[in-house]
Amino acid sequence: MITVAGFNTAIDRFIHLDALKPGEVHRVREEQVYPGGKGVHVAQTVAALGERVQLVGLVDAVHRNLVCRRMSERGVLFHGVEIAGELRHCMALQEAGGGMTEILGQGPLLSQAECDALLLDFRRGADESELVILSGSLPRGFPVTTYAELADYVKGLGKRCLVDASGEAMRHAAGTKPFMLKPNRDEISELVGHPVINLEAAQAAVLALHRQGIAMPVVTMGELGALAADDTGIWHASLEPTQVRNTVGSGDCFLAGMAVAIRRHMPLEHALRLGVACGVANAQSQETGFAERGSVDALLPQVVVRRVQQPATTQSLPAR
Ligand SMILES: Nc1ncnc2c1ncn2[C@@H]1O[C@H](COP(=O)(O)OP(=O)(O)OP(=O)(O)O)[C@@H](O)[C@H]1O
Ligand SMILES: [Mg+2]
Repeated sequence: MITVAGFNTAIDRFIHLDALKPGEVHRVREEQVYPGGKGVHVAQTVAALGERVQLVGLVDAVHRNLVCRRMSERGVLFHGVEIAGELRHCMALQEAGGGMTEILGQGPLLSQAECDALLLDFRRGADESELVILSGSLPRGFPVTTYAELADYVKGLGKRCLVDASGEAMRHAAGTKPFMLKPNRDEISELVGHPVINLEAAQAAVLALHRQGIAMPVVTMGELGALAADDTGIWHASLEPTQVRNTVGSGDCFLAGMAVAIRRHMPLEHALRLGVACGVANAQSQETGFAERGSVDALLPQVVVRRVQQPATTQSLPAR
């Protein structure tokens, strides 16, 4: 079992317009509403790849049916803590010409009791899982040290914890040396304090994280692919999509692929291949944050993976 802590469940509304003109009235051409948020993306892609997965997240009375139905269709065991407030709303305005504008809601402010209920479900999930993923923003009401505490809890169980967060939550979590940290280009730039805009800079960043004691740091670089380190060296993987439709959630699908591979004890080189295939499968489809098994299988052999640094130079420094 894999447990995903993706607390900040969202309701995503995809609105298709002819063209967005600020200050004017618009008529919607087509509209889709579905559950979203990073936890949902990661969990549904893990399930699509055939691993048992449970998601711990928020739900509200109005959207309980929508979220539970979708999660059950996708094969995810959903532990939804019902809150008094309303779930976060995110809106994507898709123009006929291809432009996309996103408006992300700030989401509910949780009471202490609601935070405690999520943490309780999280601990239950972690106790019965082999691997745990912490993914996405924390709802308001949680301190920024929450992911660090959860990562420590997972470590205390002797289990592997994969973290995808940003800002201070990511920085605190990094300090606990989780098994994996997965920043993207912007997040790693924030973490190291200078812009990481090319593969050389990303390679230096994963090496530094690995030397600090993170077993498998990964940096995803959008169209440049992904770099990851472990004691077998530093690896790069990438694949050019045939068509890019919607890259939002590619990092979440990438993380799902990596998690499944790690759960199956695959070496890093193969884990990266699966991660990139999932990221690209998501980018090639319209839906946000979902990689279908069939597309992933078709892309897998096309992913180009190479070792960019030999192991002797990447091993963690012995603890003093
Ligand atoms: N335009 C693209 N071309 C090729 N590969 C892509 C593209 N976008 C994403 N990918 C693949 O997906 C992986 C993850 O994408 P990215 O680095 O954009 O993640 P992210 O910014 O964390 O995304 P999100 O947070 O929206 O899920 C990349 O490492 C890459 O392999
Ligand atoms: Mg991301």
